[in-house]
Amino acid sequence: MSVQISPISESLPAFLSANSYTKIQVIVDENTFKYCYPTIKTFLPKHKVIKIKSGESEKNIDTCQIIWQAMTDNELDRHSLTINLGGGVIGDMGGFCASTYKRGIDFIQIPTTLLSQVDASVGGKLGIDFLGLKNHIGVFQLPNTVLIDADFLKTLSYDELRSGFAEVIKHCLIMDGKKWEEIRRKDFEEQDFTDLIAHSVAIKQQIVAEDPTEKSIRKILNFGHTLGHAIETYFLGKPKLHLLHGEAIAAGMICEAFISFKRNMIDQKTLENIEEFIFSVYGKATIKEVDIESIIALTAQDKKNKGKEVRFSLLEGAGKCGYDISVSKSEMKKALEYYR
Ligand SMILES: NC(=O)c1ccc[n+]([C@@H]2O[C@H](COP(=O)([O-])OP(=O)(O)OC[C@H]3O[C@@H](n4cnc5c(N)ncnc54)[C@H](O)[C@@H]3O)[C@@H](O)[C@H]2O)c1
Ligand SMILES: [Zn+2]
Repeated sequence: MSVQISPISESLPAFLSANSYTKIQVIVDENTFKYCYPTIKTFLPKHKVIKIKSGESEKNIDTCQIIWQAMTDNELDRHSLTINLGGGVIGDMGGFCASTYKRGIDFIQIPTTLLSQVDASVGGKLGIDFLGLKNHIGVFQLPNTVLIDADFLKTLSYDELRSGFAEVIKHCLIMDGKKWEEIRRKDFEEQDFTDLIAHSVAIKQQIVAEDPTEKSIRKILNFGHTLGHAIETYFLGKPKLHLLHGEAIAAGMICEAFISFKRNMIDQKTLENIEEFIFSVYGKATIKEVDIESIIALTAQDKKNKGKEVRFSLLEGAGKCGYDISVSKSEMKKALEYYR
């Protein structure tokens, strides 16, 4: 799959002149309509815009119906193009709608959050939440291209930018020890995001190319996510305690680095470095003793599990990761206790 990291003023016109479409439709949310659409509008021929409300709570079947309805009203045929302009919510759901409308029409991703640029837009996972379960309904389908321009990040909030940075940290820890050493020596504000986007995309592309449907090595991308997702879900909808995805994953990475250390897979210095850097960027999430059992119970929902076993991806050093490692409840408990 092609990913272009360059100014959108170059990549979008180049894509459009190399391809011919009967109709073009752009999917945006309230924020990307305001902050990102004006930038691309000038490069587009005649097109329609579908604007949906922003937020994860909109990533559902009702919004899909709105999108499919608009596609039908706009008379999109099989030779039409959908442009998903937004974060992971627009990318996942817009891509899902495009790949199911008339059994699939072309779509491209223009990710506008750091998280979607370094993670969600690469790898072809599309879908929506259903019955309160994240990404429960979806497909694997690659977009025609991904056009990344770091300039879109200028209007993104500090918290959203920092949340996306957790996936950058993860990519370094699982695959590139040298880059990890480089980023951990800099403050969050000093990081070179344009360089880090290219680095993260290359790592994710390499892993996905080896294992597109997550039967093996792709599972390492879940480092920090088994406990991280459980923490995210536990605090979901709890006012004041609510965590962004990356904030929860940051906590998850510390817990899972601790389990890696306890199993002699990483040394104490590596654990300390991970902890020190992540705390310096994210601070410490408030996890109370009484929360621990419920968080552990939530790991039973993890998509990587096999039967009753909860399977983790754990570090085998800074820059290396293993997968399909069964972890007991008591190890998880110790890790959460260590974190708090
Ligand atoms: N497909 C995958 O492989 C994959 C991987 C990771 C995450 N995801 C999915 O991605 C979603 C999270 O993505 P996200 O963090 O981008 O969330 P998001 O799409 O909700 O965007 C976060 C917020 O930023 C706003 N926004 C987006 N771009 C902006 C810009 N340039 N300036 C100002 N505001 C802007 C959005 O309107 C939204 O309010 C989740 O649904 C998750 O499941 C998918
Ligand atoms: Zn993630």
